[in-house]
Amino acid sequence: MKIILVFVSSLDGRITRWGEPHVMSWTSKEDQEYFKKNWREHKLIVIGSGTYDAEPISAPKENRLIILTSHPENYKDKVVAGHLEFTDESPANLVKRLSSEGHTEMMLAGGPHVATSFLKEHLVDELWLTLEPKIFASGENFAVGDKLDIDLHLLSSEKVNERGTLILKYRVLKH
Ligand SMILES: NC(=O)c1ccc[n+]([C@@H]2O[C@H](COP(=O)([O-])OP(=O)(O)OC[C@H]3O[C@@H](n4cnc5c(N)ncnc54)[C@H](OP(=O)(O)O)[C@@H]3O)[C@@H](O)[C@H]2O)c1
Repeated sequence: MKIILVFVSSLDGRITRWGEPHVMSWTSKEDQEYFKKNWREHKLIVIGSGTYDAEPISAPKENRLIILTSHPENYKDKVVAGHLEFTDESPANLVKRLSSEGHTEMMLAGGPHVATSFLKEHLVDELWLTLEPKIFASGENFAVGDKLDIDLHLLSSEKVNERGTLILKYRVLKH
């Protein structure tokens, strides 16, 4: 299973503006289009309950969106079999199960707590990071609360607008 972690961040590393839940209020049109394309094209998307609760989203009908939560029972009325699921599995067990079901790629679309759980367990293969030319000084980082020491290798960088929004793709080096 190839796991791709996707985030958009300010230049000072904030993935929220001052902790506000709505990301699209500050991201560029180009990043929003790129994110929507990723959202459409990835058949399997995983996010944490913090991200889902911030902006309850749906996936295109043919895609599968899985939300990690320790309280799946709280979301019973939202479940759409095979399409929108809530699970309390660990990242490693979830990846094992989805691989055994035939999935070969997963887009992990945040947020920071879930991203950190996957990074800690060396489950992430690529990081696709959009850098918006903005500084917020406060807000979340995409990895939180732990000591990590992860090396990455730049695969590609693309300037997608005149102001200089950059879409960076990195491979995570597994030593
Ligand atoms: N800029 C970006 O690209 C971007 C992307 C995504 C999100 N965000 C922002 O990030 C914010 C949410 O961040 P967040 O860190 O609170 O949300 P998160 O990582 O999406 O969700 C964290 C929650 O997921 C549940 N969870 C279940 N299993 C877990 C596991 N193995 N590891 C970690 N958490 C697990 C826990 O809640 P329960 O068990 O209690 O349900 C935990 O509090 C929102 O404001 C959102 O807009 C930004």
